Amino acid sequence: MKLVSAKEMLDDAVKGHYAVGHFNLNNMESVRAFLLAAQEVKSPIILGVSGGTAKYMGGYRTITDMVQGFINFLDITIPVSLHVDHGKYAEALDAIENGFSSVMFDGSSLPIEENIEKTKEVVRLAHAKGISVEAEVGGIGGEEDGRSFRGECADPKQCKMIADLGIDFLAAGIGNIHGKYPADWEGLHFDVLEAIKKEIGDLPLVLHGGSMIPDDQIKKAIRNGVAKINVNTECQIAFTEATRKYFEENRDKESKGFTPRAVLAPGLEATKAMCIKKMTLFGSIGKA
Ligand code: 13P
Repeated sequence: MKLVSAKEMLDDAVKGHYAVGHFNLNNMESVRAFLLAAQEVKSPIILGVSGGTAKYMGGYRTITDMVQGFINFLDITIPVSLHVDHGKYAEALDAIENGFSSVMFDGSSLPIEENIEKTKEVVRLAHAKGISVEAEVGGIGGEEDGRSFRGECADPKQCKMIADLGIDFLAAGIGNIHGKYPADWEGLHFDVLEAIKKEIGDLPLVLHGGSMIPDDQIKKAIRNGVAKINVNTECQIAFTEATRKYFEENRDKESKGFTPRAVLAPGLEATKAMCIKKMTLFGSIGKA
């Protein structure tokens, strides 16, 4: 199975009232964990790659070849999209040239006119190769490009301006935040989601910061047009907690328990389990 664009899977998700999970890659173990999880429950999946991960894992071409290699080696038959997460302009272009099947161009820190111009160009270059495009309006809460936010909301009119550029799905802040949510978080702003939806029609919406949002809010967001949900933090925490437990139980001292593959195995399993838990919540199980 070759990597696929995320357009079709998200259009299907909008029609079927479920969401496809975007899970961020962090290392080789996460590639394995997410592919095995998706295959086991027959769910489509989007693998997200931030600029930091791209640098850590050897650049876009290395990641494309690694993911495609694992798909072939593990006999993965469900649709897998390999997607740039919060790409700067140069990163989006680099990934388009190097085998990614989907890109996010995040021009949200730019003046809206420049965001529009650059998004247009990314759409032109990506679509020429059958690659899907996500764009972003307004900053999403938490840490993004070293800037910090507290759950901002996008302007629905600006969402319409970007949606009209021919993008395939749109990320718009509705009070969501990357990373851990503060105790006094107000929750998702469904009035803003409704206003955005009214402007953009059936274009799939993307919810970033998908970790630790209460289940009922996730389900309500999906009912209101969210078709892609990005998850990173909860999978990272699952990995780290399982790894800590391994050491706390002194399993590295047993037999060959010190080998790196043995040390990383519980984290890989915990990542896979978290991925399946999220896919169950998003309703994407059995949709591939
Ligand atoms: P979390 O780390 O909060 O799950 O957010 C992930 C994300 O939105 C990646 O774009």
